[in-house]
Amino acid sequence: MPITFDAQSRTFHLHNDQASYLLRVLENGTLGHLYYGGPLAQAGSYGRLSGREFLGFSNRLGEPVALEYPTAGIGDYRVPALVVEQPDGSTALDPRFVSHRVFAGKPAIPGLPSTYVQDYVEAETLEILLVDTPANLEVRLFFTIYSDRPVVTRSARLRNVGSAPLKVECAMSATLDLPDAEWELVHLSGAWARERHVRTRRLEVGSQAIGSLRGASGHQHNPFLLLKRASTTEESGEAYGLSLVYSGNFLAEAEVDPFETTRLRIGINPEGFSWSLESGAEFCTPEAILAYSEAGLGALSDAYHGLYRDRLARGVWRDAPRPIVINNWEATYFDFDEARLLEIATAAQGLGIEMFVLDDGWFGRRDNDNSSLGDWTADRAKLPSGIEGFGRQIEALGLRFGIWIEPEMVSQRSQLYADHADWAIGVPSRPHTEGRNQLVLDMSRHEVVDHLFGVLSDLLGRAPISYVKWDMNRNITEPFSPSLPAHRQGEFFHRYVLGLYELYERLTRAFPQVLFESCAGGGGRFDPGMLPFAPQAWTSDNTDAVERLRIQWGTSLCYPVSAMAAHVSAVPNHQTGRMTPLATRAAVAFFGVLGYELDPGALNDVERQEVADQIAYYKARRELFLHGRLVRLRSPFAGDGNETAWMTVSPDSRRAVVGHYRVLNRPNRGPSRLRLRGLDPRAPYRVSVWPVGEDPVSTANTGIRGGDELMRVGLLVASEDPVESRSVGDFTARLFDLEAQEAPRRRGRA
Ligand code: DGJ
Repeated sequence: MPITFDAQSRTFHLHNDQASYLLRVLENGTLGHLYYGGPLAQAGSYGRLSGREFLGFSNRLGEPVALEYPTAGIGDYRVPALVVEQPDGSTALDPRFVSHRVFAGKPAIPGLPSTYVQDYVEAETLEILLVDTPANLEVRLFFTIYSDRPVVTRSARLRNVGSAPLKVECAMSATLDLPDAEWELVHLSGAWARERHVRTRRLEVGSQAIGSLRGASGHQHNPFLLLKRASTTEESGEAYGLSLVYSGNFLAEAEVDPFETTRLRIGINPEGFSWSLESGAEFCTPEAILAYSEAGLGALSDAYHGLYRDRLARGVWRDAPRPIVINNWEATYFDFDEARLLEIATAAQGLGIEMFVLDDGWFGRRDNDNSSLGDWTADRAKLPSGIEGFGRQIEALGLRFGIWIEPEMVSQRSQLYADHADWAIGVPSRPHTEGRNQLVLDMSRHEVVDHLFGVLSDLLGRAPISYVKWDMNRNITEPFSPSLPAHRQGEFFHRYVLGLYELYERLTRAFPQVLFESCAGGGGRFDPGMLPFAPQAWTSDNTDAVERLRIQWGTSLCYPVSAMAAHVSAVPNHQTGRMTPLATRAAVAFFGVLGYELDPGALNDVERQEVADQIAYYKARRELFLHGRLVRLRSPFAGDGNETAWMTVSPDSRRAVVGHYRVLNRPNRGPSRLRLRGLDPRAPYRVSVWPVGEDPVSTANTGIRGGDELMRVGLLVASEDPVESRSVGDFTARLFDLEAQEAPRRRGRA
């Protein structure tokens, strides 16, 4: 059983062979945290772990008490998990243990996405009921441990059992108290076109936090952080991860107190948030996913990848091979008609592409970004036979058909705005802040969600649409909903996200065959909350191969390759102006859900053949790229960032593809070797190189090589010949294909 309870010491132990999580009901009924880390013997004594009673004023005690769900106002001056204003205006809170239950499986969270089990035996859940009697508040904490993953999922449910309303001002999904502060904090931060770059800094006394107040998780910070030791590498050492299954305003924070202990917390950002909890009402927090590794960042990412790919993403597209799309955005922007699109689609079909995606500009009168959002009917001037007729023409070419939409938005120049100006978010007495010439619809209102469901389900029901790219190009300003009374305006942002999830839920249920891809001006809402609805996301508007190395590397710390849509685009690149070889662009995009975003008609014959070969190469290995284990080998964030390498390995280690990328070629640099990981040391592998060439690197690596040799000696990734290296150039990539062969039989054995 993964969860045991020792009644005498009132200690709970969630465990499997990868991790242990221990908590104890302290003498006074407070819930103390004992330990999260590598597995501890089930029958062990935990007497030496901190677990003494919390007496208040922990900032004056030598050893601050570790707590599971700390509250404000009772002497623990570190950042709290829970703050609730009571009818008399006070906020001190001290919930005490009442009861617990342990059950097989894992419950869903009403209205919110969460990880799940397919079979009850996959996980066990501990539910603990705490009650604060003076406040009439029940706090239910949920802890789930999967039998074969080093993760613990957490969420909290609050219930007002009194007769007067309570006001929730902060309700974190989880906190985690750690006994020391010798950690580096790693988070994923950036901006449009440079999302999720890896940032690393030492923890210091005080608080260090990332978050969002935009109404979406945002380009700037991702709802994920990890702690690592300074010595932790990809392959070894300790690390903790904290990730939030949520798409709105979040806070992820590490606080180090003067005694060098660390408190982590993650949840809905308390800034600007409050929730009126009426008598009998419940409030559920989003789910936090805690992961632990003592085998480096690689194992930490493995834990998130497996869970998010297999038990957060849902539906037929979770496991089905994702189609290779051609998207017309960078080929045409708003300037297209049916003939032009059919030309692109026809050429794409000839190359082996499987789906045509019609991006922005097909509806209303949308010739630029100034109008028509909200009017989801085809512009007959561009598409005379409507979206249905055009979709049928695409299907007649042998392609599937997908569309771009941006449901949460409205243009002031649109019929929807003329009919329902009050549906746009804004404070009536203030001007709207502009963002891409559009306003955001008030998704906290049921009638808005109902309207969008009606319009979109009609569209998806009528036209042969197999894929939807759901964009969201601006963040919320002037947050306010006229449908909420003044004392409930603090609920607005969270209610927006609940409305968004409801719309996604209804659409994905009604159209289970449709593949949804989430997008937000590139990767501005690339978070776990989207994955149950849209198993893949547009990773970034930046399609430059060199830039994508860093974006995809950073993203991979938490998210699986199957979540990262990656397109080969034209050169000069539209975001950087850089000219990279076609092979390099493909070799980067292969480590994602491959697509193309260019005009295939503009390619010459050699390039067309190259693209056809790329597509054939990817199709033959699609499962390996999308569901293999990603092993990061050389970081673009290390040193001068000139080299990146990663590989994908099949679950049985029989197949692998290694990608090695060099930004600038440096003359006379001597031999360079890349040691691989995750192979079977006893298996001989046939190594082939892509693109196929006669150069020294290809010749030196091609052939049969032992798994042990590949891991201990490595592949040659730079020519030893200074003259040869002249012909290589900048922005190069090479893929090494590894296929295990039957081991030669030893002589004298049967
Ligand atoms: C932003 C997206 O990230 C792009 O791919 C494209 O769909 C544009 N929006 C269209 O407006």
